[in-house]
Amino acid sequence: MNILEVIEAKKRGRELTAAHIDFVVEGFTEGGFADYQMSAFLMAVWFQGMTADETAHLTGAMLRSGQELDTSPLSAPSADKHSTGGVGDKVSLLLAPLAAACGLKVPMLSGRGLGHTGGTLDKLEAIPGYRIHMDNEEFLELTERVGCAIIGQSGSIAPADGRIYAMRDVTGTVDSVPLITASIMSKKLAAGPRTIVIDLKTGSGAFMDDLAKARQLAKSLVAVGRLHGRNMSVVFSDMDQPLGVAVGHANETIESFAALRPAGRATAPADLVALTEDLVAEMVRVSGLEPGRDEALARVRDIWDSGAAFTKMEEWVAAQDGTIDPSREDFGLKQAPLALEVEAPSDGWLAKVDCRQIGLALADLGGARLTVDDPLDLTAGIDFLPAVGDKLSRGDVLARIFCTDAAKAKASAERIRSALTT
Ligand code: URA
Repeated sequence: MNILEVIEAKKRGRELTAAHIDFVVEGFTEGGFADYQMSAFLMAVWFQGMTADETAHLTGAMLRSGQELDTSPLSAPSADKHSTGGVGDKVSLLLAPLAAACGLKVPMLSGRGLGHTGGTLDKLEAIPGYRIHMDNEEFLELTERVGCAIIGQSGSIAPADGRIYAMRDVTGTVDSVPLITASIMSKKLAAGPRTIVIDLKTGSGAFMDDLAKARQLAKSLVAVGRLHGRNMSVVFSDMDQPLGVAVGHANETIESFAALRPAGRATAPADLVALTEDLVAEMVRVSGLEPGRDEALARVRDIWDSGAAFTKMEEWVAAQDGTIDPSREDFGLKQAPLALEVEAPSDGWLAKVDCRQIGLALADLGGARLTVDDPLDLTAGIDFLPAVGDKLSRGDVLARIFCTDAAKAKASAERIRSALTT
């Protein structure tokens, strides 16, 4: 077999065998052929697509390029969630301890944010002392003992994805359903959860802005997960406006932990509460801890209101050496001071938010990365207050900007104003 044969086959729309796909992934990661040949292969996949079997083989080959965790010794069903990413998406910080308090084991490997979407790992780094790196043995031991652990994905997890993603990024081949599927699932499967619930976001702040394409991706993720023997479920959620109020790192972490307090279900932003409940209930139901949706939701709400999820969050953060002060509203996390308030220029109704621009307004403050090497200000943030459909009066505060640099705050405010349609 040689790479040219495989490129030719895919170019003409033929179905590739598992052997073809292993050859491509192994050859590329081991430097067996040139980058331009890989880019031709990726473009052929972009145009011709892949069958469910081909996508599953590609996922498997990428998964096998690194380590796979064995979660079979865990004493309760393991489950995880994957979000396709958005603005203000802090759900993992609530979901992991809540699901653990509901009786699941949640081994979560998380990534960093890039562009307008944030990453869980960066939010966790806003907690003083929180340890994001540990070996697999300790990670699984913590998951067993506490019920959840969230760490950074090391280079040993699906390393082929890192190389292939970098090539996709510079060849216009990121937006391909089979390539996205293999990229997401190779990493998610590696952590070993038996149940995977996908939070598939659509809207102006999402990776997939169109529902038809999001449905296609959902079907593909579910098919591949099932072919790998996992229980799969998809929840579609809205990303046409930021999730919750806080957009940033320290402020999103504070919002998440505050929401987990026993009264949090009633006082936290309703969209954040509803989505978190929905996803955890799905993890509980699909894992078999409850027979149906209503029972699963009732368990999640009871646990949340009892304070058990908050206690679990404290236990988990302490187990990873993080220091928080639950007696304080800000949990002792460092936040930049209030720099500016953005006010409504006139009376009207908020008709639309370009959510991606709100994510970029955080980047204006130094709170998000435009390239992987950008430094990050974890203390900068935006509180975005209105929701689509709200009646606004001139002078109403629409957003609060937290930052130490007045010029950056001004640029961010301009962007927020231009992202709103009344
Ligand atoms: N997220 C990933 O991890 N990979 C993709 O290809 C797209 C989104």
